[in-house]
Amino acid sequence: MRRTNSYAAVTKDAAQRSKWTFQEAVFFGGDVSRPIHGGNIRKVQDNYGLDKSTILDFSASISPFGPPRGVKEVIKKSIDALPNYPDSDCLELRQAIAEYWEIDPDNLLVGNGSTELIHLITRVLTPKQALIPIPTFTEYEDAVRLAGGRCLFIKARPDKDFSWPMETILGRLDQADILFLCTPNSPTGYLMPEADIYNIIHACKKHKIVLVIDETFLDFVDGGGQRSFVNLAARPSNIIVLRSFTKLYALPGLRLGYLVGGKTLVRKLSRMQPPWMVNALAQAAGLEALKDRPYATQTVVQLNLEKEWLIAELSKTPGLLPYPSAANFILCRIATKKIDSEALTDEMAHKGILIRNCSTYQGLDKHFIRVAVRTREENARLISSLREVLNGL
Ligand SMILES: Cc1ncc(COP(=O)(O)O)c(C=O)c1O
Repeated sequence: MRRTNSYAAVTKDAAQRSKWTFQEAVFFGGDVSRPIHGGNIRKVQDNYGLDKSTILDFSASISPFGPPRGVKEVIKKSIDALPNYPDSDCLELRQAIAEYWEIDPDNLLVGNGSTELIHLITRVLTPKQALIPIPTFTEYEDAVRLAGGRCLFIKARPDKDFSWPMETILGRLDQADILFLCTPNSPTGYLMPEADIYNIIHACKKHKIVLVIDETFLDFVDGGGQRSFVNLAARPSNIIVLRSFTKLYALPGLRLGYLVGGKTLVRKLSRMQPPWMVNALAQAAGLEALKDRPYATQTVVQLNLEKEWLIAELSKTPGLLPYPSAANFILCRIATKKIDSEALTDEMAHKGILIRNCSTYQGLDKHFIRVAVRTREENARLISSLREVLNGL
């Protein structure tokens, strides 16, 4: 891939890429860059000459309290398992996840992060047209296009906390064969009411559309477990629920996620997954993480308190308007013409603080940034650096 020298060049690449059709992407071959995500420490290190140990990353929304100590210890101990292939069926981990949700292990497929599973779903189901409420996680679009499909987007309403018009979603279901729904949604933090999701489920069933519900950030919602659609997806259904160990347990470098769906569909997906996708360390870590309920509960309580503080401080910061969020990140509108998201991200990176420039999301523009919720000390550093930049304009 072409080496880029600044954040501006990186985001320009992404903007260019997002305009390409699948055919163009194939035609341009080697020049196609990957979607932009937060948390790209190596690239920022290269571009800004920063020392990794001094970088504070608010661009990826990962719990600042993890990984749990027990998980780190288990990973160290599992080094001895490396001379053997991992269990390709992830049987022990599937049994533990199944027990956690009180479902059957045959309703579960474990993957190399939920991203691998998103791409597996589109590769196997090859949707011709996918309905994607935006702005949202960019891998849905990428996975659909790479599998040869088209994306139909439904725009959220910025004046209504980035909720989506239900009548538009329901009205366009007859044009698609798959719908991706992220709840709570990234990068907006919007949590669709449960009644709306049930309406969508019924309508998808009627239209014989697969509904993919991405619950990656539901762990951070108070009472999120009760709001999950895992149990519904485990019945014979057209629903696939995606879950991840990445965010809550702070394991993005390990790669571990799973999906829940009807047994026939899970078998079909599993048949198309290459063997040994989930390494031995990840399987052991997942087993241990599931046991640590106090870690999960305390993390959610603590981060929700921190989120309140951070939203209050962001509201008092000139030029920034934070949106309410059900997740562990906050979307902010830049309400000054003196700086855009690219320049603000650049200024902050020079200070060793990474924030997410949201101009690369379909449905957002250069007036939006997203920041993760971290510890009080780190959040205070974020606020003081943002104020330094914004007050200096
Ligand atoms: C909404 C959403 N879903 C899924 C993922 C992928 O998570 P992972 O592949 O690490 O499990 C992300 C990562 O940023 C995300 O934001």
